[in-house]
Amino acid sequence: MSKKVGILTGGGDCPGLNPAIRAVVRTLSSKGYEVFGFKKGWHGPIANETMTLDMANIDKLLITGGTCLGSSRTNPYNQEGGVEAIKKTFKDQNLHALVAIGGEDTMGVAHKLSSQENLPIVGIPKTIDNDLDATDMTLGFQTAVQIACDAIDRLKTTAESHDRVMVVEIMGRHAGWLTAYAGLAGGADCVITPEFPMEIDEVCKYVQSTESRGKNYAIIAVAEGAKILNKGQEITSQSEHAVDSFGHVQLGGIGDLLKNLLKEKTGRDVRSTNLGHIQRGGTPTAMDRVLSTSLGLECANNILKENWGMMSAFKDGKIQSVTLADGVGRLKTLSEEFYSRCQAFFG
Ligand code: F6P
Repeated sequence: MSKKVGILTGGGDCPGLNPAIRAVVRTLSSKGYEVFGFKKGWHGPIANETMTLDMANIDKLLITGGTCLGSSRTNPYNQEGGVEAIKKTFKDQNLHALVAIGGEDTMGVAHKLSSQENLPIVGIPKTIDNDLDATDMTLGFQTAVQIACDAIDRLKTTAESHDRVMVVEIMGRHAGWLTAYAGLAGGADCVITPEFPMEIDEVCKYVQSTESRGKNYAIIAVAEGAKILNKGQEITSQSEHAVDSFGHVQLGGIGDLLKNLLKEKTGRDVRSTNLGHIQRGGTPTAMDRVLSTSLGLECANNILKENWGMMSAFKDGKIQSVTLADGVGRLKTLSEEFYSRCQAFFG
């Protein structure tokens, strides 16, 4: 009887999930394993909701965004009987292994189930936020950077035509990687992230200094979770926003807030654009396809070797495996070193 392997994708989707699924399925099925999907993140193994993966069309996954398995932010530790239900599914399905593809929340659950319940689980790191520790890059990040950079390029041409200041709000939750990479690639005149709070007067100063060097427009890249201060006091508040089952607030709106403040304080014509979920849509870039495929192959290898509790990673220039514990040990926030490269172009 062939060994059964289930795959799930949890949390916010991103381009690269499907290529990773394809790599796992292609490798394991060629070795005689039976690979199938669990629907909608941790909901799948809780409810024992599965789906077959269409082998005739599996290669199409390489170029498709989103996830063919569906996703959700279901947290089994936040649901009565959730963990017991997953253990039952492992038994009922006679599951040899489970592949969890996700970010800090999904990996956190994978780590707990693996270390506390001794379930045979391996992980693949994904998120446009790039905030998982023990991997230099998560799948989905590079595509999101490209999308945000393309958007900044487009905002620039219209900003120049109208002598405008353009504020662009970029995702990333509590990490500023996406904003900093897109800001550096797009030539932003100021980059504001959660890790490096900024006084509103300092933002105004950068807008004014673009003017004084003869530039008629300015681009301000602001992370959705950024902190803007007025004489040391935070003037952004997310407290009224909804909270998901992992306790994360739904962010968004700081771009508009900043636009109004800049208008009032500089007298300039200011507009704001919130890139939102566009950053998570569409096909993965070539480099993201390569990364996702490589992480998927590494994961299949972990299953062949029965290396449970491991997460595929891209670290120090090579694809390798780290423990799930290392992957979720700490939130990887934007480094001072990278931020200083953005700062070199402020104002
Ligand atoms: O974690 C990925 C992410 O896109 C964050 O950057 C963002 O804050 C969040 O998910 C948005 O979540 P949702 O799709 O539930 O609105």
